[in-house]
Amino acid sequence: MKKNIKLIASSLIAMGLIASPVASAKEIVIKFSHVTTEATPKGKGAMLLKKMVDERLGGKVRVEVYPSSQLYGDKAVLKALLLNDVQLAAPSLSKFSKYTKQWALFDLPFLFKNPQALNCFTDSAKGQALLGATERKGIKGLGYWLNGMKQISANHPLIKPEDAKGLKFRIMSSDVLKAQFEAVDANPQKMAFSEVYNALATGVIDGQENTWSNIRSKKFFEVQKDTTISNHGVLEYALVTNKRFWNSLPSDIRLQLDQIITEVTAEVTQFALDAAVKDMKTVADSGKTNIHTLTDAQKQQWVSAMKPVWSQFEDQVGKDNIAAVQQCNAKN
Ligand code: LMR
Repeated sequence: MKKNIKLIASSLIAMGLIASPVASAKEIVIKFSHVTTEATPKGKGAMLLKKMVDERLGGKVRVEVYPSSQLYGDKAVLKALLLNDVQLAAPSLSKFSKYTKQWALFDLPFLFKNPQALNCFTDSAKGQALLGATERKGIKGLGYWLNGMKQISANHPLIKPEDAKGLKFRIMSSDVLKAQFEAVDANPQKMAFSEVYNALATGVIDGQENTWSNIRSKKFFEVQKDTTISNHGVLEYALVTNKRFWNSLPSDIRLQLDQIITEVTAEVTQFALDAAVKDMKTVADSGKTNIHTLTDAQKQQWVSAMKPVWSQFEDQVGKDNIAAVQQCNAKN
């Protein structure tokens, strides 16, 4: 009798009329690939997301985190995401130019006054609308993750814009960043994040721009004699997923993941604000790079040299978006 029941049950499962207990218990695996170390705002955010998913959705969903470009580097990760080989990534907004031209807004030099102004914009209706810019390419933006303000470094002091002349600077794959360095007669080179340390150490490039957390965690300060507190640009991430994968999730799971992401995003902001202070201090205390502070007049020279870049890109990024950022600057 028991045997017969089993037989009937397995026939019904095979016919798809009832769900197999194994199939219904199948865990959803979300692979999260990124390029920074675990000890960065993004690295910590990824681990916190994993922890919260374990706590709230354990058995149903599992997040696997692959930091430090160990699974995919800058370019490959978005291709892998579209193939659904990974389901989460958080590249810098500067790395999406193949998928949207609008996120170039975030690269405009001296556009954002500080991280608070950046958060004000990304939280605004315009910022939230912009998060959807890659959707028609199959990439869904789930949230903005903060890193912070970029600083500039080389092997001699960068005090005036002319000090950058002729130097090779590594940039992320952004045409705005290219134009920014060309505006000071420097020579920008697009390069993957994982290659920057060696390129600096061997002199393939002379300088770089990045946030304190990346300068510290990737040890760029050990191979750069001079670092200027320039705060000339921002590094902001888009936490993205494969749109089709996301839409295929059971709606209750998607809702819970959304809630977790909202909570993690708030924590990432705090990790980033803390890292900007702590990592700058670690770099300064190391004594391995001379930290230069610009006077207001010196800073103004960099602004005057780089800001003309805006007019080249304002149609592409939207004058209304630039105006919205300026309103946030005024409030912060
Ligand atoms: C870079 O390439 O410099 C950054 O985007 C790396 C990162 O993810 O913070």
